[in-house]
Amino acid sequence: MALLHGTDYCDKFSPEIFLKDFWGYLDDQNIFTISNAYIFLNDERLTGHRLLDFGCGPSLSGMITTPERFSDIVMADLAPSNLDIIRRWMDGEKINFNWDHIFRFTAELAGAKDVSEWTERKIGHLKTFVKKLVTCDVTKELPLGPDYVEAFDVVFTSFCLATAAKSIAEYKQFLKHVASLLPSGGHLVMRDTLNLTAYTVHNKKFHFLKLSMVDVKDALCNAQFEVLECKSENFSMPLCEPPELSVFVLLARKA
Ligand SMILES: C[S@@+](CC[C@H](N)C(=O)[O-])C[C@H]1O[C@@H](n2cnc3c(N)ncnc32)[C@H](O)[C@@H]1O
Repeated sequence: MALLHGTDYCDKFSPEIFLKDFWGYLDDQNIFTISNAYIFLNDERLTGHRLLDFGCGPSLSGMITTPERFSDIVMADLAPSNLDIIRRWMDGEKINFNWDHIFRFTAELAGAKDVSEWTERKIGHLKTFVKKLVTCDVTKELPLGPDYVEAFDVVFTSFCLATAAKSIAEYKQFLKHVASLLPSGGHLVMRDTLNLTAYTVHNKKFHFLKLSMVDVKDALCNAQFEVLECKSENFSMPLCEPPELSVFVLLARKA
């Protein structure tokens, strides 16, 4: 059976099961991805206050780790159903997922003396400064649509590009589309997976482009990015094919 992909995210991807199965616990992989996103998003080389989470899915895992100086945050995804989960959380509506363990862990990373107080402040920050939830499509030359003219200082993207691209040539092209959202000197914080070909959400299999680190670095160079730092580690994930994979998180600067 063909792997799900593209607009399948709009009607065949279950956001709440995805959250439960991929973000519902703190295993070594989530500790690695969250810690390194925290380190890179808080890096003092990052400038400006406009941040885009591109391909956010239903996940707040990246935005919870952002410093408070980001006062203009946009979250974007292909699937309106994913954005709806974020909107409902922002509006204080009940969703079938609890982010407490990620808030608690990030508060510890931040050295918070009072975890509850830190969490309350962070929730307030997100509810105030996530200014827009918008649809996007990385396959398009203008991935936020022709009417979206603002540039960002930092783009964060997590496990998105390799789900969208079907070939290395597409991966390169899509990374260029993301780069077009940044000015020269803007920063990219990206996390993704190497060696993965598919992952399962609610018994449905979704495509993932098999990448090597050379492919990723090549694509970054081709999109005019200079890699400032990159961390990667091997993990085993039962819902992934193959289960043995490597996850990376990197910080890059657009030339
Ligand atoms: C594996 S999920 C990752 C979600 C989230 N960033 C995270 O780290 O948990 C992949 C996300 O990429 C999005 N996506 C897939 N194809 C896309 C495209 N062409 N343009 C933008 N987003 C896309 C999906 O809707 C989905 O939310």
